[in-house]
Amino acid sequence: MFEYDPSKSICTCARVTYGDMAEAVEKGAKTVADIREKTRATAFCGSCTERVEAFLTALQTGQAKAMVRADEPVSDDEVVAPGYRQVGPELYYVGASDRAADRFEKQYPVPRGMSFNSYLLLDRQTILFDTVDQSVREVFLRNLESLLGERRLDFLVIHHMEPDHAATIAEVLRRWPKCQAICTAGAKKMMGQFFGPQFSKRIQEIRDGVSMLTGKHVLSFHTAPMVHWPEVMVTYDRTSGTLFSADAFGTFGALDGNLFADQVNFGDWLEEYRRYYTNIVGKYGGPVQQLLQKTSGLEIRQICPLHGSIWRKDLGAILEKYQQWSTYTPEEQGVVIAYASIYGNTELACQALANTLSDKGVRDVKLMDLSREHPSYVIAEAFRRSHLVLASVTYNSGLFPDMEHFLHQLKHHGLKNRTVALMENGSWAPVAARKMDELLTGSGNHVLGKKITLLSTLKRSQLQELEELADAILSSMK
Ligand code: FEO
Repeated sequence: MFEYDPSKSICTCARVTYGDMAEAVEKGAKTVADIREKTRATAFCGSCTERVEAFLTALQTGQAKAMVRADEPVSDDEVVAPGYRQVGPELYYVGASDRAADRFEKQYPVPRGMSFNSYLLLDRQTILFDTVDQSVREVFLRNLESLLGERRLDFLVIHHMEPDHAATIAEVLRRWPKCQAICTAGAKKMMGQFFGPQFSKRIQEIRDGVSMLTGKHVLSFHTAPMVHWPEVMVTYDRTSGTLFSADAFGTFGALDGNLFADQVNFGDWLEEYRRYYTNIVGKYGGPVQQLLQKTSGLEIRQICPLHGSIWRKDLGAILEKYQQWSTYTPEEQGVVIAYASIYGNTELACQALANTLSDKGVRDVKLMDLSREHPSYVIAEAFRRSHLVLASVTYNSGLFPDMEHFLHQLKHHGLKNRTVALMENGSWAPVAARKMDELLTGSGNHVLGKKITLLSTLKRSQLQELEELADAILSSMK
């Protein structure tokens, strides 16, 4: 790191200081010619050219840092960065939340924002666990720099290379040139893919189960492929009983000051935990089961995920949900009716079925309009309940696009072990039930033989059929 005094002269002929030049670069100067044009540095005797070139490189590679002079009084107006928090012995939260985010992964609505967690262990050695998304880069770097102060960063542990955690890796490695990255072979390969060969000599590849002493703390690294990418690993800190769990045990939503799960009402958050799990790692139930088994022998006292709250109490609450979700076990015997209806006739038939189910004692029936609800919400509700009714109009001799899209999404997210009932509508050649059945083939869900076909509208003569479908659903409930 090149520490410079902003008030010191870099070009005496033109009376340009290091501070002036840094400001010119901040305002867009990219070359020595740009600097000359903006400040006149190098324009006279030229003896400062080498100095200007070196300083420009340091600024552009993030290796220049303005010196704070010891005799400078500390100002009350100084900007502070109170974003970091202590969350364990020698352990600090240095992540941040993006409350302006509309979507996560460009597709999932996040009305409560999104948190991108990163943790710093200030032991004899300094260890950073993951970086953050570009959207919160500035707060994260301020947190990190404030905590490290004059200390160097020794290691960066990379649990996951998806850019919501890895986007700022290059910047961290450039700012702390002695820092070594620790990751799996898969992550090392991805480091090359994302950042080219520049850091290849600074990566320590680990094998499953290896340990590392950092001072007071002993860390062990455990691979967790496909939770949620193939290169993923988790870290266990044996000294504090902390599991750094990568994407596992996370949620959508920003952190609003209460960093720990026991400081908020889990009931208020469960829907977002479920929607996050089912849509992000829902497909990978098997790998999640393997991770749960692999870590079952560890004495885990705290879980630090990459999104959402830190778990230090009642770990059983979230572990129980992960057990259900990853084994595709419904949380409750119940029905979600997902429909695609253009003019409301299919919707009315779904409402009639919901009423009948309710009359027969089914609690908490959920009606969801696939043309209005984002599929992520419907997928989460389908994971929650034991039964799913799909109702669609016929459209262009096939399925209505919103239903077709939903069924592809359902398949991509691997939902299985559910009982599915079908209802179709068509004014001249209804084929929706057959198309839905085809898309469900091989999905691991059981489709009831009893189906309902509407010709434009539900008729009084079909109420008996509706009763029979409701009875078939009820009798298939355990
Ligand atoms: Fe939060 Fe798979 O990244």
